[in-house]
Amino acid sequence: IRKFVTSTSTMSVAMKNITVIGGGLMGSGIAQVAAQTGHNVVLVDISEDLLNKSQNNIHKSLERVAKKKYPTSPEDSQKFISETLSQLTLNTKVEDAVKTSDLVIEAIVENLDTKQKLFYNLDMCAPEKTIFASNTSSLPISEIAFSTQRKDRFGGLHFFNPVPVMKLLEVIRIPETSDETYNKLIAFGKQMGKQTVTCKDTPGFIVNRLLLPYMSEAIRMMERGDASCRDIDIAMKLGTGYPMGPFELADYVGLDTTKFIFDGWYERYPEMTQFKTPDLLSKLVSEGKFGQKTGEGFYVYEKK
Ligand code: NAI
Repeated sequence: IRKFVTSTSTMSVAMKNITVIGGGLMGSGIAQVAAQTGHNVVLVDISEDLLNKSQNNIHKSLERVAKKKYPTSPEDSQKFISETLSQLTLNTKVEDAVKTSDLVIEAIVENLDTKQKLFYNLDMCAPEKTIFASNTSSLPISEIAFSTQRKDRFGGLHFFNPVPVMKLLEVIRIPETSDETYNKLIAFGKQMGKQTVTCKDTPGFIVNRLLLPYMSEAIRMMERGDASCRDIDIAMKLGTGYPMGPFELADYVGLDTTKFIFDGWYERYPEMTQFKTPDLLSKLVSEGKFGQKTGEGFYVYEKK
């Protein structure tokens, strides 16, 4: 009997060697989860010091994951942590870090020029096969990819903070992204244990495109005195089932980060008034009230 075998030619081959560039909030989370899910990960940042900090953060985060995963077995926890850390190496030199890379995920500062320079340089030193992806929240992937000669092997992988907890991954295709690259990015997302969704290279992709106008409208309601931030948060949680209200979420993300995204978009798309930075948000940021991390934003937080 001839077995019916589905064609494997269109199926994606796993990407094993992953380079994560930028070991900050997002990059360390991405590196951690990639290592946890069996990839060989090289994490790159601009100094040894920063890399050591990233590694410490990853270690702490892994301890939390291990506690949940193996609540009754300290040996299994320890094994999980040391095995994951053994999948991870640190490097300050991108040229070395990408030598055998299947996929580079960039999570450096949100600045187009800096990202373009990095990818221009990477394009020169990475092998032909290497796929490039950016984790940018607010810059067009096409403009970042512009500095490279491998637009067919370029896409967006937009993770959410905190990466080890948040299940979603937005996979972004630019017009040039090949089917093979796209399939590999989706397969990688699944290997990372994420639920993938696909979006074109449009401002904010799916989540932020809907979230920012929503936050903006909530802030304007408060500015007009229609309702208090507490009541708006309660209403959105109990009325829609959202786990956090818009003000709690803004304070959690950071008002500085939220303002940065609003400013960037409004400058880029001035015709889209829903992206205009709300005045109250600018005022709080100018007063150094960035949300939870500074102890005050829309709410005041008790010092830990
Ligand atoms: P971060 O400021 O915590 O980390 C950035 C890291 O990149 C720093 O450690 C910095 O030293 C390093 N870096 C800067 N230039 C570099 C270079 N040329 N080479 C190597 N390393 C370099 O920033 P964060 O929040 O992790 O954001 C990174 C990217 O992820 C940004 O593009 C941001 O838009 C995006 N993003 C952020 C989210 C968030 O909630 N913070 C969510 C999703 C995406």
